Amino acid sequence: MTNPVAIVTGSAKGIGLSIAQELSSRGYSLVISDLDAADCARVAATLPSAVGIACDVRDEGQVKALIEHAVDHYGHLDLMVPNAGIGLVAPILETDLSAWRSVTSVNLDGVFLSIRYAAPAIIASGGGAIVTIASVTGTTGSPLVASYGAAKAAVINLTKTAAIEMRDHGLRVNAVVPGFIGTDLVTHTASDFERHLGLSEGGFASVISAKQGRFGTTEDIARAVAFLADPSQSWVTGSTLTLDGGLTAGLI
Ligand code: NAI
Repeated sequence: MTNPVAIVTGSAKGIGLSIAQELSSRGYSLVISDLDAADCARVAATLPSAVGIACDVRDEGQVKALIEHAVDHYGHLDLMVPNAGIGLVAPILETDLSAWRSVTSVNLDGVFLSIRYAAPAIIASGGGAIVTIASVTGTTGSPLVASYGAAKAAVINLTKTAAIEMRDHGLRVNAVVPGFIGTDLVTHTASDFERHLGLSEGGFASVISAKQGRFGTTEDIARAVAFLADPSQSWVTGSTLTLDGGLTAGLI
């Protein structure tokens, strides 16, 4: 039996790193992929079976090469986690088209390209799974995150469509829908939320902690990704699994 093989994009830190670590602990061989080759190699060296391959998910040629490189290296591909993403906190009226496109190019185009090129490789390997990383901002209107939320809403729709198209080819496609997780993506934008929402310093963390019970951890998301990826969940496809401490469960 060979190890199952997973690619995780944006896995040099944050949620992607935890997903890679969780999958590794469950016996996967990993492809650690991110923008910087040295970061990829550094993380790969910490795992028992991993290789680092740099890839900018906005670039079609690089995504295609990432999948080919992974299959050349391991001989097969079983799981794709298109995790790479960036944030932008700005009102619509202060968002210009180039800023909009910078967010959607990573958070939506990057997921499309990852699915577009990983799916044939997984199907050729006998089937497997793709788990996308959406967001609660993709399921509810959320001030200041128009480009991010729109891209994540589109990721949910893309996930469901891919699930239907791939169902008869042995490939399951599901999404996790996280609330706020304490990574750089959130901590680096907290002051922008506070400025626009009129909150004092630290106010954003207090509001979110109250509404979620606590901040989510990267491990909360990693375990959910591993659950959805597991072959034992053979009837789970086209699903969204929300992990937000109840943030979006009710009105008050
Ligand atoms: P992070 O900022 O800690 O890590 C993101 C990683 O993606 C970084 O290593 C970065 O270098 C990489 N990346 C950025 N642009 C890239 C590109 N063009 N090509 C390849 N890699 C690229 O962010 P975090 O929080 O770990 O986010 C991971 C995913 O989880 C993202 O898709 C994000 O939208 C999603 N998410 C995060 C939430 C949070 O509260 N932190 C909540 C819901 C979803």
